[in-house]
Amino acid sequence: MNGQHTIGVTVNGTRHERAVEARLLLSDFLRHELGLTGTHVGCEHGVCGACTVLLDGAAVRSCLVFAVQADGHAVTTVEGLGSEGALHPLQTAFHEAHALQCGFCTPGFLLSLLPFLEEHPEPDEQAIREALSGNLCRCTGYANIVTAVQRFVATRTAGTAKGATP
Ligand code: FES
Ligand code: FES
Repeated sequence: MNGQHTIGVTVNGTRHERAVEARLLLSDFLRHELGLTGTHVGCEHGVCGACTVLLDGAAVRSCLVFAVQADGHAVTTVEGLGSEGALHPLQTAFHEAHALQCGFCTPGFLLSLLPFLEEHPEPDEQAIREALSGNLCRCTGYANIVTAVQRFVATRTAGTAKGATP
């Protein structure tokens, strides 16, 4: 049917079926087909990390994945992390530590960090900086992002955070 492929992707817990072209990027599928514009597109070639989402729990750059590759899989975007008034604890830490300015990079940082923080419950500063190194931010100078992660880890370790999984 005109080069279209019918795919079924579960995004933030809801299954969506669409007929898409094979060349459609997952980032464009999320933004233009599903209206989930929290996934930002910066470089569109895998460098900036702004488009990072979780694909079956692993952080991927959605500008480097075709939508058809997500057929039958589960995607989590920033819209799936929390809601207004009920932010994910990592979002709260970003807010409290002033870890964003324009916010363009923030969804990518959050989605990149969550699997890392699952695997590394108590990372030191060097490990946090390495975890951040694949995401670009043009505003903050990164210091407050590191602080936000440390704040999240400390809160979670103290047992007052609700957990790192979306
Ligand atoms: S937009 Fe995907 S890595 Fe920059
Ligand atoms: S807060 Fe503006 S690019 Fe990171």
